[in-house]
Amino acid sequence: MSSAPSLDAALSLDANWWRQAVVYQIYPRSFVDANGDGLGDIAGITSRADYLAELGVDAVWLSPFYPSELADGGYDVADYRNVDPRLGTLADFDAMVDALHSRGMKVVVDIVPNHTSDQHEWFQAALAAGPGSPERDRYIFRKGKGEDGSEPPSDWRSHFGENTWTRVDDGEWYLHTFAKEQADLNWNNQEVREDFLKTLRFWADRGVDGFRVDVAHMLTKDLSAEELPSWAELEATPIDGNHPTLDRDDVQEIYAEWRKVFNEYDPPRTAVAEAWVASDRVPRYANPNSLGQSFNFDLLQADFNPAHFHDIVTHNLELAETSGSSSTWVLSNHDVVRHPTRYGLPVVGRNADGNPTERQGGAWLRSGGTEPELDRARGLCRARAATLFMLGLPGSTYLYQGEELGLHEVAEISPDKRQDPRFFNTQGEDIGRDGCRVPLPWTAEGSSFGFGAVEAHIPQPVWFGECAVDVQEGVHGSTLMMYQKALRLRREFQTDEKLEWVDTGHDAVVAFRRPNGWMVVTNFGTEPYGFVSDAVVMVSSPIFLYEGTVTLPGETTVWIKE
Ligand code: NOJ
Repeated sequence: MSSAPSLDAALSLDANWWRQAVVYQIYPRSFVDANGDGLGDIAGITSRADYLAELGVDAVWLSPFYPSELADGGYDVADYRNVDPRLGTLADFDAMVDALHSRGMKVVVDIVPNHTSDQHEWFQAALAAGPGSPERDRYIFRKGKGEDGSEPPSDWRSHFGENTWTRVDDGEWYLHTFAKEQADLNWNNQEVREDFLKTLRFWADRGVDGFRVDVAHMLTKDLSAEELPSWAELEATPIDGNHPTLDRDDVQEIYAEWRKVFNEYDPPRTAVAEAWVASDRVPRYANPNSLGQSFNFDLLQADFNPAHFHDIVTHNLELAETSGSSSTWVLSNHDVVRHPTRYGLPVVGRNADGNPTERQGGAWLRSGGTEPELDRARGLCRARAATLFMLGLPGSTYLYQGEELGLHEVAEISPDKRQDPRFFNTQGEDIGRDGCRVPLPWTAEGSSFGFGAVEAHIPQPVWFGECAVDVQEGVHGSTLMMYQKALRLRREFQTDEKLEWVDTGHDAVVAFRRPNGWMVVTNFGTEPYGFVSDAVVMVSSPIFLYEGTVTLPGETTVWIKE
């Protein structure tokens, strides 16, 4: 007779929901437009709660939906405790949380603590109050160089190409690590610290289950030097905990305070750090006294390559053990070229880590999607194989909206329709990230392929119709059905966070076994690979089965359950 789990066990299970969860990232302005203004909204997400439940995800992560001038796709937040009126209201947000919770899904929201929008009331107050004021102390203002202070305090480059300092009317300069509309906050200022605690509680009290923390490694800075280092010097400074702007040890003081807030709730609220740091420093963010989990972008940066995939997994599982957290895996998000496209393009050259040198797809995007030639079918075939490989791994997986449809990156967006500051600040040298943010196709026919009643805010290409949800729903072998089935089986098979490599005798074929007889075999090569099994339960592409022998074609993954 089986007995029901004890209450304690049930509670701790709930507290650990994130450890092996599948989290689906929604870029709200491009998911569903319910009110017909061309921009996706919160009510649109609520209207697809059944779709998400059927897909089988455990949680939904929303990229910023806060009031924003959209200088950086919403990562320029003007008010941290509200919903952009173009996307809805707080009541709409509550209704969405209810709809997701009632279907068993958790809700994670994006928090952007490094910088606010220049439209934020604090920044406006800082401009009005002038140099030396407490209002200005919430940001990083500084006098310029040269006799009249007309030169920026340093020659540092922002992430979007321009100088990282912008001058205001009274002659001072403020720091912005990203676009000039995103002013960096001063995390030495107590009011800044307290206000973010208030924001965390505001959303946690509304039922939000977790937070994704934007550029978590950048918040604290030491700019006390009278003469700032040059950009070349800054870039050459070791990132060892004392770097002036990156991954400083003292950033952990902030997360220790945040952890106390998370633990005020039952189950404790979770957080995942977007921290681009050396892997040996990841545990600082991922340990349970800090944010508790950190993104691992290694797979997302790697090519479709057996040795790389194998080593990345081994390394990251070791790191997870060091931190006490679970590992995270991700192949696509709102910042990179979608993985079917990356895998369908030739690799141009590799850096010291063995990763392709250019942000993959950069040249292809610049050519408008013509050069080099994209092998769409092969890219999708590899992407499906990589996805099934990833979904079998111990730990949690982050999926990006539209990958379940096998969407490719969109290259054909005219300059006047582009939105990404990267495109504008580099005069098109870096095409930017709009191509993975094109609104989803829900139907093959109709206005904006079912996204909404009018043209979508980033135009969709004609071929989007072929990938629409209604084209794939219920169709055997479609990418959508593959994701649905894989997520259902993954839930059923879920087991301890362990993996054992299986020697296949072939460099191109990587296989691992989970503790309960769940096995994943990926053929990264192009030659077929044969083995004996009568327990294949899941395939990324058609395989051949004959009298207990499996012939696994190239670039294919299977799941076996013994
Ligand atoms: C990381 C986000 O993922 C990206 O989209 C954004 O542009 C920067 N942080 C700045 O907030």
